[in-house]
Amino acid sequence: MADAPLSYSAPAAGQAFPATRLRRTRQYAWLRRLVAETVLTPSDLIWPLFVHGREESEPVAAMPGVDRLAVEGAVLAATQAVEMGIPAVALFPVVDAAHKSDDAREAFNPESLVCRAVRAIRREVGDSLGIICDVALDPYTPHGHDGLVQGGRVLNDETVAVLCRQALVLAAAGCHVVAPSDMMDGRVGAIRRALDGVQRQDVCILAYAAKYASAFYGPFRDALGSAGALGTAAALGVADKKTYQMDPANADEALREVALDVAEGADMVMVKPAGTALDIIQRVKEACGVPTLAYQVSGEYSMIQAAAGNGWIDGQKAALESLLVIKRAGADGILTYFAPQIARSLRT
Ligand code: PBG
Repeated sequence: MADAPLSYSAPAAGQAFPATRLRRTRQYAWLRRLVAETVLTPSDLIWPLFVHGREESEPVAAMPGVDRLAVEGAVLAATQAVEMGIPAVALFPVVDAAHKSDDAREAFNPESLVCRAVRAIRREVGDSLGIICDVALDPYTPHGHDGLVQGGRVLNDETVAVLCRQALVLAAAGCHVVAPSDMMDGRVGAIRRALDGVQRQDVCILAYAAKYASAFYGPFRDALGSAGALGTAAALGVADKKTYQMDPANADEALREVALDVAEGADMVMVKPAGTALDIIQRVKEACGVPTLAYQVSGEYSMIQAAAGNGWIDGQKAALESLLVIKRAGADGILTYFAPQIARSLRT
């Protein structure tokens, strides 16, 4: 024991001998857990739900593991969300062709499917779960555009007027957060004024501030049954959404979008898609300091599910990793179709 120190020979000066070994803190699971800089929890997740007017649920072919739910099914999912510690759901109605029109009037029908779903969920879970509703006209127009179309153009200000009516109806039905995802200019301010005008200062606005024109929305359009709609749109001279959704080439413009929406009264902003815009999430979070959410969209979900279904990747691990890095980039919350699966795994 006494001569143990003597057996130690110090490394010669200049000998390669790293004093800092980063692998040291990766040796054990407990130590990795201790030094983890980012921790994903169920509180980070928002669960998007597709609701349709039928009695039975129905699988979405392009999104394995996701169903179109009856209103009752959405109520059940909402109660499960509460149990799993998921703070909010986002509702997307699957609207029958009979309720689609060029003026999108079903968007402000207080008896619409989404309004009925909001009321049913709110009755069941009260304020223990956030209910978020999209404000955009795409479920209600035959061409699937988020706004009114005339003369080969998507009209801005005329659309904003309809969006305000839609937001008021959704708020009256009981949703806590309206989420304009339409990308019209000036809609956040107009919706805020409309809500405040009827004493609904309590209703939050989550602005899809940096929403890119993305190929990754494909499966979502299948879920809504609007995949063919853009064919109708092409006949009207507006084949895609590039005149209102952002060009993926741009980043500074995303910051301008966010700044405008915040100035107009947005309480929270969204970056979408998430996985192809991690740089944008980081910049928005740093520059604006507002709660920044990110949407892991349908295509991101379906890619993982497809690869997992083929046995090419471990779907659960890939889902977790994809969400963890979105949080690491700076997202305060993530909309993801993996929400129930991941929340369950994080709690066990
Ligand atoms: C429509 C809307 C879209 C998504 C959410 N709201 C599609 C679109 O803009 O065409 C896509 C979500 C997803 O792909 O998961 N305003």
